[in-house]
Amino acid sequence: MTSALMPNYGTPELEFDHGQGSYLYSSDGTRYLDFAMGIAVNSLGHCHPRLIAALTKQANKLWHTSNLYRISEAERLASTLVANTFADRVFFCNSGTEAVECGFKLIRRFNHAQDRHQRKRIIGMTNAFHGRTHAALAAAANPSHSAGFLVGDNGFDQAVFGDLDSLEALISAETAGVILEPIQGEGGIRVVDRDYLKAVKELCAQHDLLLMFDEVQCGVGRTGTLYAYQQLGVTPDILASAKGLGGGFPIGACLATEVVAATMTAGSHGSTFGGNPLAMAVANAVLAELTTPGFLPQVQQRSAYFRAGLQTLVDQHPELLKGISGLGLMIGLQCEIPAAELITRLQQEAMLVVKAGGNSIRILPALNVSEEELDEALTIIAKILIKWQLKI
Ligand SMILES: Cc1ncc(COP(=O)(O)O)c(C=O)c1O
Repeated sequence: MTSALMPNYGTPELEFDHGQGSYLYSSDGTRYLDFAMGIAVNSLGHCHPRLIAALTKQANKLWHTSNLYRISEAERLASTLVANTFADRVFFCNSGTEAVECGFKLIRRFNHAQDRHQRKRIIGMTNAFHGRTHAALAAAANPSHSAGFLVGDNGFDQAVFGDLDSLEALISAETAGVILEPIQGEGGIRVVDRDYLKAVKELCAQHDLLLMFDEVQCGVGRTGTLYAYQQLGVTPDILASAKGLGGGFPIGACLATEVVAATMTAGSHGSTFGGNPLAMAVANAVLAELTTPGFLPQVQQRSAYFRAGLQTLVDQHPELLKGISGLGLMIGLQCEIPAAELITRLQQEAMLVVKAGGNSIRILPALNVSEEELDEALTIIAKILIKWQLKI
C-alpha cells in the first residue's frame, strides 16, 4: 500500500510496539538493545516510572491553557535550568530547531535593541546541524538539507569548525553572533577543541558578538555534566536545548543571560504549545532525576567503562575501526568499513545505533544504562566484527 505520509523519511520497515528501559520490542516480540534512544531523546530510557507518573498525573489534571495564563510548572522548570546553568532566563518551545530559531532571533534582537541595525549576520560552522527551519538550514549550509529551500544566504556565514583564522576572516561590521555545537552530532561526534573554543569566546568578546551554543543533542546530561559547556571551560550567552530534556516528550528550551533575554519584550516572540503543562511536568521529572546527587557522576563512570571496552575492540580490529570520539555517553565510533553496513548488521543482531557524518556511527545509550547492558552491546559489536573479518 502506498503511504499517505510524505516521502521525506523514506520507507522504514522496522516498527516497535513498546519499550522498557534500554530495550525496544517489535510486534513479533523481538527485543532490541536500544543505543540510539530516539537520537539522544529518551534520556532515561523507555517508559521510566518517574516520567510516566509525572505525565499521567499532569494528564489527569490539565493539558493546555496557553501562555496567556501563568504556567507554574514552566516557571519551576525555568528556575531549575537557571539554577544549574549560566542562564538567567528561559523560553520554552517544542523542538530543537525552534530553540535554535529563538537563539537566532535573540542575537538579532539584542543588536536591534541597541540600534546596531547593520548587525544581523550570524556565523555558523561547517559540518554543523541545527535543524530544519529556514534559519537553521542557512546556518549549517549543508546542501543535502538545504537544496531548493533557501532564498539568498539568509544572513549566515560559515567558518571552518575548529579553524580560528577562518572565523576571524568572516567577522565584519555586520556580524552579530556566532553559533556552534560544542560537540557536533550529525556531523560525526566531533568534540570542539577547548583552546579553540576559548579563542572563539575571546574573539566574540573583542568584537562584541554574542556566542550561542547548540546543545540540542549534547546537552541534558548526555556528556556527564548537565550541559557540555560546563566541562569545556567556556560559557555562552545563549544556549539551545531540547531532545533529552523531555525524555521523549516534545520540548525545546532557549536559555540566555538577563541582558540578552531582556530584549524579548512582551509580544516579541511566542509559541502556542511552548511551555505547555504536559511537557513541563515531564521535563521537571527528567531534571529531578538528572540532578539527583550521583546521577551525572554515574554517567561519567559508565562512559569510562564503555569506552574502555570499545577501545579494546578498536585495538583488536584496526582495519575495521579507526577510533572513538565524543564525551560521556555521546559516543562516536569512527569506522574504516562502511558505517551504514555496520549499522545494518548491528540491527540484524537486534542492536540499534545511528549513522553520523564522516563514516561514523553514533552510540547514544540511555543515561541510566546498566553495566550489563553496556557489556551486552560490546558483545554484539565484537561478534559482528569477528564475523566481518571472517567474511561470514
Ligand atoms: C545539534 C542539533 N541541533 C538542532 C537539532 C534539531 O532538533 P529538532 O529535530 O528537535 O528540531 C538537532 C536534531 O538532531 C541537533 O542534533
